[in-house]
Parts: sequence; structure tokens; C-alpha cells
Amino acid sequence: MEIVVAHDAAGVAVTAAAQVVELVRRRPTAVLGLATGSSPLGLYSELVRHVQGGLDMSQVRAFALDEYVGLPPEDRRSYAAVIRTHVTEPLGLDPLRVRVPTGIGDDLDAACCDFEDAIRAAGGVDLQILGIGRNGHLGFNEPGSLFESRTRVAALAESTRRDNARFFDRLDDVPTLCVTQGLATIMQTRTAVLIATGAAKAQALADAVRGPVSTQCPASILQRHPHAVVIVDPPAAAALEVNDRMLSR
Ligand code: F6R
Repeated sequence: MEIVVAHDAAGVAVTAAAQVVELVRRRPTAVLGLATGSSPLGLYSELVRHVQGGLDMSQVRAFALDEYVGLPPEDRRSYAAVIRTHVTEPLGLDPLRVRVPTGIGDDLDAACCDFEDAIRAAGGVDLQILGIGRNGHLGFNEPGSLFESRTRVAALAESTRRDNARFFDRLDDVPTLCVTQGLATIMQTRTAVLIATGAAKAQALADAVRGPVSTQCPASILQRHPHAVVIVDPPAAAALEVNDRMLSR
């Protein structure tokens, strides 16, 4: 696991974007794994700058990590809408090549299997962008999720519902269920790039990077990933050992 402590949140975005740009230049049909939430927004904006400067992302394929159960893609609070607004449209991706797990339908289990098949058919994810929850979740794999888990319907932790209530009018409006890629799905990606900014993530990040590998901190599974890069700002790195923070650039 490589840990990069950037100067600030803007530096996190620039450093993470550089990894994506390098991949897309080398492999224009690269398969990206997309996270939603606040953490990757700076990275996506930085990629927009590269696209405006001539980077062609029109052949990139992408799979999102998760979706709320019950929110259709037209709902602005759905992750399908977030991906469309912050990634597909501004980066000029082909909407037919971008897939977000569906949170509506009669047979979500079958849809989850289809989603896994689609990742496999695409040849797997080259670079997975990840955030981390304050409770250590990865995707919506909440504490207690099995390391063997695949894409499935899962329950959101109450702390996650509270954290994400900022995107909804009221806490009661936050769905209780989600569809999320599993931890085993995430572990099959060729490169995993975890982004964290702000002091609120410091403890979860320290647990993930240096704590025991435990289902109590799902992100700790990344310690076993063959190529995981953790890119953080100084407040998010505050609970790391000095040795880790020395790896800053
Ligand atoms: C989002 C996702 C989540 C978030 C995490 C951090 O697709 O999978 O794991 O990355 O909840 O969210 P933010 O970035 O909003 O703090």
C-alpha cells in the first residue's frame, strides 16, 4: 500500500487525477471504477480540466460502486444522477459505457449478478476510485461485511444514513438499503486509489491503513490489495504514524 500525503485537498485531486490521466493516455478504453460522495469531486473537476485540455475519455468504460435502493436514475439524489452530472457529461464519457448498479426493479439480486457479469465481460476494472466512510466502509460495505462479498443488496449503517442526510431534505428520506459492489469485487480491481480529505476521516483512515485487517473496518482489506494507493490531505493523515506521513509528496 502506497500512502501519499498531498499538501492539501487540491493536491489530493491533482495527484489522483494524474493516475487516471496516465491510465487513459496509455489505454483509451480503460475501465474505471467510480465512487460518488464528496471525496472524489475535486478529482472529477481536475479531470474536466484535462479533458478541456485535449484528453479524450470518450472510449473509457466505467462502473459505479453503489446506488440507493428505491431511487430511480432520474432522481437527482440517486448515484446514477450524481455520476451523470459529475462524470459522464462533463468528461464526455459515452453513457452506454457507464454502468451504475440499479436500485429499482423486481429482481435486484439478478441485477446484481448481471452487474458482476458486466464487469467480468469488460475485463475487470483497471483503476478503482474509492472514498472511505467515517465508519471505515468501502463502497457501501458497512462494518461486518464479508471479505468474500460481491455486488448485492445491503443495509446502510445508521451512521452512514446520518452522514449522507446532507444530500436529502430529511434524515427520514435517506434510504435504508443500497446496492453495493462487494469487498471481493473491489479487491479484484487492478489498481485501487483511495481518496480521503479532512479530519473527520483521520481515525477511519488510520484503522484502514495500520489497524488489523478486520471486517470491523472494511477498508482495511485494502492492506491485502496488490496495488492500492491512498491519497490524503494532512488533516486526514493526522492519525497516521510519522513514518507514514514521511511518504508525503
Ligand atoms: C460512494 C461510496 C462511499 C463514499 C464514502 C465517503 O460511492 O462508495 O463509500 O466514498 O461514504 O463519502 P464522502 O466522500 O462523501 O465522505
